[in-house]
Amino acid sequence: MPLEIQVQTAQVHDLTADITVVGVLQTGGKAGLAPALKSVDAALGGALAKLVAKEEFTGKRDQTIALSTLGRIGTDKLVLIGLGEKRALGAPEVRTFAAKAARTANLEKAMTLAVSLPVGVEGELRAVAEGLELGAYRFSRYLTGDRKPKRSLASVTIGVAGRLKPNAKAALAVGQRVAAAVNLSRDLSNEPPNVLYPESFAAAAEKLAKENGLHVQVFDFKEIRRRGMKLIDAVGRGSSREPRFVHISYTPKGAKRKLVFVGKGITFDTGGISIKPAAGMGDMKHDMSGAANVVALMAAVAAVKPKVEVHAIASLAENMPDGNAYRPGDIWGSLDGKTVEIVNTDAEGRLVLADALAYARTLTPDLIVDNATLTGACMVALGASCSGWYASHEDAAREFAAAIKDSGESMWRMPLLEDLREQIKSEVADVKQTGDRYGGSITAALFLREFAGPGRWVHCDIAGPASLDRPSGWSQTKGATGHAVLTFLSLIERSSR
Ligand code: BES
Ligand code: MN
Ligand code: ZN
Repeated sequence: MPLEIQVQTAQVHDLTADITVVGVLQTGGKAGLAPALKSVDAALGGALAKLVAKEEFTGKRDQTIALSTLGRIGTDKLVLIGLGEKRALGAPEVRTFAAKAARTANLEKAMTLAVSLPVGVEGELRAVAEGLELGAYRFSRYLTGDRKPKRSLASVTIGVAGRLKPNAKAALAVGQRVAAAVNLSRDLSNEPPNVLYPESFAAAAEKLAKENGLHVQVFDFKEIRRRGMKLIDAVGRGSSREPRFVHISYTPKGAKRKLVFVGKGITFDTGGISIKPAAGMGDMKHDMSGAANVVALMAAVAAVKPKVEVHAIASLAENMPDGNAYRPGDIWGSLDGKTVEIVNTDAEGRLVLADALAYARTLTPDLIVDNATLTGACMVALGASCSGWYASHEDAAREFAAAIKDSGESMWRMPLLEDLREQIKSEVADVKQTGDRYGGSITAALFLREFAGPGRWVHCDIAGPASLDRPSGWSQTKGATGHAVLTFLSLIERSSR
């Protein structure tokens, strides 16, 4: 259920809710009470000023103080959160602040929340709505009885100091729909693999497309084979859950560009015949996060209605060991036509992506962006909450870097080192599936490049199962991803301007 969000011009003192969170700008670095809080402090008998002084609260970003009001003002609990300096305050910072407010409300079992914004932030209502919905997210579908959260945040009042812009309501509504899309990606990622498998994932994608008036095609296993998607066949054949291929499209009139987003959708990755160790294997239910991102992205696209053609492609399979499974040593063809020498059945992601990239090329896009929980090596390099990204052309890289700046997501560019290309040369096939131990994220990217072709292409090796959502403060569930959706959306919106 979406939050009920209202916005009004109001002072902190006038807000009523179970909990009130006040965003405080940093001024000069001195501890002292912001003017807007003077009347609240008076009602609390000076307790707020005392706490601010004692904690040396200056409004530095993320600095937080909280106190109970004992019912002396319209809220039971008052929380001040530092926003940092005004000049460093953009949409990502405002979004994170709002997410923290919503998350605090849920932790405090509050059902109503008031959020007070300082002057000059009225223009960031979309980011506020996004943050509120992202921060309120919990994955509690499988909790019953006492374990089920009894209260959750239901309504939010945003109090702004300045005058409201005429588009305030619309900005909030778009923000809520965008965040709902990210949360849907997190839901898909969090669903257990006995519930979410290629067929049920494809059904969820079809439902999303229908709800948003988008065109959708789902290829079943027969169609995947008929079209020559041999690498998806190879990866998916060891499971009794058949693979699926999903293509959703948004094709507005007068589109300025055509963008294609591709996602890895391994609904569970055991490693196959090259089986993974038992410890932590359950986290591999998140191995479809890339596919979840691109499918969910389309719901956000439907909300912002850009003048850009957008396609989402998801390669869905379960990687299981079985008498029918593919093996190390196999040589498989591909949709592209190139043959691949299989080295390790645990490097399955690049295979399902290779066929998806070859398919994406047939749409003749201006840019292909893929994303995948592709390598442990990328997490070794960048940690569990930062994604690595690669770009084939510098103009595509500039564009993508700008989108990351808009979204505030944690992503770091990696190099397509030509020297490492040696590692994926095969004696017996056109290309070898994997390289050596060193440079594992880079050789995976170089492998994908063989199938992405000479056009503009960006590849994101997204942080895997241990990833906490970024910007920090979005979520309290381990492994919920949705990471990269906001970056992709901003790339699309930039193309639409
Ligand atoms: N899905 C994994 C990568 C992964 C592992 C992401 C852990 C996040 C956390 C991928 O399919 C995989 O198993 N990759 C192998 C590649 C190797 C066999 C070349 C890896 O990273 O070990
Ligand atoms: Mn694997
Ligand atoms: Zn995998």
